[in-house]
Amino acid sequence: MAGTAPVPEPEVLAAFEAAKGFMPRAEGLALYAAATEAAALGLPLLEVGTYCGRSTILLADAARRAGTTAVTVDHHRGSEEQQPGWEYHDPETVDPEVGLMDTLPTFRRTLRTAGLEEHVIAVVGRSPQVAKVWGGALGLVFIDGGHTDEHATADYEGWAPHVAEGGLLVIHDVFPDPVDIMTGQAPYRVYLRALESGAFTEVASVDSLRVLRRTGAGT
Ligand SMILES: C[S@@+](CC[C@H](N)C(=O)[O-])C[C@H]1O[C@@H](n2cnc3c(N)ncnc32)[C@H](O)[C@@H]1O
Repeated sequence: MAGTAPVPEPEVLAAFEAAKGFMPRAEGLALYAAATEAAALGLPLLEVGTYCGRSTILLADAARRAGTTAVTVDHHRGSEEQQPGWEYHDPETVDPEVGLMDTLPTFRRTLRTAGLEEHVIAVVGRSPQVAKVWGGALGLVFIDGGHTDEHATADYEGWAPHVAEGGLLVIHDVFPDPVDIMTGQAPYRVYLRALESGAFTEVASVDSLRVLRRTGAGT
């Protein structure tokens, strides 16, 4: 992660800024730099937590430029804190016919508008279930799914083993201080676990985003 950080073209950045979602610009740029570096391995880049596609745009563009693919996994029913009555709920994401959140239609529009549809494989399903049937190595895993210990731990245990040697594990919403966040510290605990495993070394940190490189075996 040395030298000048790669930045997306203005139209990609504009699509990212316009998309509904939870990724601030500074963290998005750090994610893009990590994705660009990891994409050079020629392996797919995988995201857990698509929501409406905001961060997916950045992974998709990095993948496109390197001739690889972004894969994004979500059941599209929203995390705990995004349900009606909770702080991060957006009523526009509810499907009135079934009365549940469904972020898939907005995600598809986001990608279409950004012109990046063909560089993304969207998997609709529960992260641990998808991880169980996933066979291949990944250049990058970006964990931005559920924020409970159950979900964050399952995401780590399901996907971190697939990060190739030299590949990157990126974790969002890492808050060392509990007063900084309403959604809890599960991502922070997963980040500590990755470091303590001896398999990952931190290479970048921007606000709540942490970028770790696989420098050893295991998880
Ligand atoms: C914080 S949002 C992702 C934000 C997105 N990366 C962005 O840039 O705006 C978390 C997403 O994870 C999904 N999610 C939570 N737990 C999940 C699980 N176990 N399997 C699949 N998706 C899950 C939710 O449906 C939600 O869309």
